Amino acid sequence: MDRVNSFCDAKTWDGPLPPPRDVLMENVANIEGLLSLLTDKIDAELMDKAPKLKVISNYAVGFDNIDIPAATKRGIIVGNTPGVLTETTADLAFTLLMAAARRIVEGDKEVRAGRWKTWGPMTLLGQDVHGATLGIVGLGRIGAAVAQRAKGFGMKILYYDIIRNEKVEKELGIQYTDLNNLLSQSDFITIHTNLTKETHHLIGAKQFEIMKRTGILVNTSRGPIVDNMALYEALRNKKIAYAALDVTEPEPLPAEHPLLTLDNVIVVPHIASASVASRTKMGLMAADNLIAGLKGEMPPNPVNPEVLKKG
Ligand code: DGY
Repeated sequence: MDRVNSFCDAKTWDGPLPPPRDVLMENVANIEGLLSLLTDKIDAELMDKAPKLKVISNYAVGFDNIDIPAATKRGIIVGNTPGVLTETTADLAFTLLMAAARRIVEGDKEVRAGRWKTWGPMTLLGQDVHGATLGIVGLGRIGAAVAQRAKGFGMKILYYDIIRNEKVEKELGIQYTDLNNLLSQSDFITIHTNLTKETHHLIGAKQFEIMKRTGILVNTSRGPIVDNMALYEALRNKKIAYAALDVTEPEPLPAEHPLLTLDNVIVVPHIASASVASRTKMGLMAADNLIAGLKGEMPPNPVNPEVLKKG
């Protein structure tokens, strides 16, 4: 914010929760730049209330909260924060994978509740990570960084993406396959796709039927890629063994949500990029994108560069 404030007059929303829609709508009338969070819905209706808007800088790598075609149509450049959170997000995906495999949260709850009475041959038996098969859905930067970690654990790695990347396949020694085969072969499945119309509920009841009964699902991408109610049924009926989620639909997940009645699910509150270092880099990047856009220059990380490309 220091970087932003030294360049322009910025009005900041300081509330602990996102600004209500009507407050956001009222306050955009005269702005030229908007620094948004992934919790702010920036759609055509809002852009129409901001006729002077030149740039939207999203403090996130994902930008499904912004209507990009609507921004492009209005000549508004959009920036995001790719790269700087890749390793941090991959760390959390692997943390969730291991925590689910070894039932870490259940174990902690047992101890705190005073139920740890003795060492037991059958106590909290989990699954081995080493040597298991990992299925990566979406081999972008974060998916590839998870693959690097999995290699260190001697995992066999399969991936599915709409675009096959033979170069990365060779570099990482991983194997391309279709989604159904990945679901049926993998012991662990980790999701790293963008949220689009095509990936909405990509993993639902049909997919849980295909997965192994011992299968573990990890999601650190966007909640709506997984059909949460189908996941609840699959976990409850032991169609799959476990899920570990950093993202949910909706967010926040209400404390009374059926998923939270289950022991075989771990949910954390969308914290995959939440390290001091990554969030600092994201902030600086978002500030730089905003400032460039305000100057009418190409932001360092544009989502729709065609807006400022000449000719
Ligand atoms: C993102 O950047 O899209 C993450 O979900 C939050 O850091």
